[in-house]
Amino acid sequence: MAEIIPSILSADMARLAEEMEAVKAGGAAMIHVDVMDGHFVPNITIGPPVVSSLRRSTDLLLDVHLMIENPDAYIPEFIRAGADQVSVHQEAVVHLDRTLNLIRSSGAEAGVAINPATPIETLLAALEIMDFVLVMSVNPGFGGQSFIPYTLKKVQQLDQLRHEKSLEFLIEVDGGLTPENVGEVVRAGADWIVAGSSVFHSKDPRTAVETMRRVAQEATLSRI
Ligand code: DX5
Ligand code: ZN
Repeated sequence: MAEIIPSILSADMARLAEEMEAVKAGGAAMIHVDVMDGHFVPNITIGPPVVSSLRRSTDLLLDVHLMIENPDAYIPEFIRAGADQVSVHQEAVVHLDRTLNLIRSSGAEAGVAINPATPIETLLAALEIMDFVLVMSVNPGFGGQSFIPYTLKKVQQLDQLRHEKSLEFLIEVDGGLTPENVGEVVRAGADWIVAGSSVFHSKDPRTAVETMRRVAQEATLSRI
């Protein structure tokens, strides 16, 4: 069943514990944490101390999306702080095999994120050592942007590829997802749907997760 992963980038950062409680009540099992360094993307967000505080205040899984250069220098610290899953950007990493092994040997699940204009072919050789692939459906750096339609094709290609090659990586999609487009993205093959502004900028984050979850799960059933 496809799952909704609320992104705290759009949450009220002074009330993170309450925001997480609300989305958990709506059925979320994971929280997406966007880490930005002001170099790989033109924005700066949070670091390991915030992950460590989140870890102490929730039992939701922490899905840490590193939009940073030289991620190897920070991966062990984020995992010690409590990250359960870590994704790095293909575009930011020189030795992807080494980086994926570092994530796994430090105790987290390893994912690779690709920007909208990065083809899935860049992942082919190492797909078997990825726990998940994160398809960016906006250019990383900011919440509240519109879904880029051509990225859907990459979700379909990845889904087809994992069936053909009997691989088990999950497909996460991130950016511009709403109750209106989530069904189409899940039917294309997405397992994890990241949602920031459509959850935390709604009137009621709990209901927003419930609604998106219902649409995503109906779409999962329609693709089986
Ligand atoms: C963007 C981040 C996203 C962001 C999505 O760079 O990676 O996770 O929080 O926000 P929305 O859902 O508002 O597009
Ligand atoms: Zn993200």
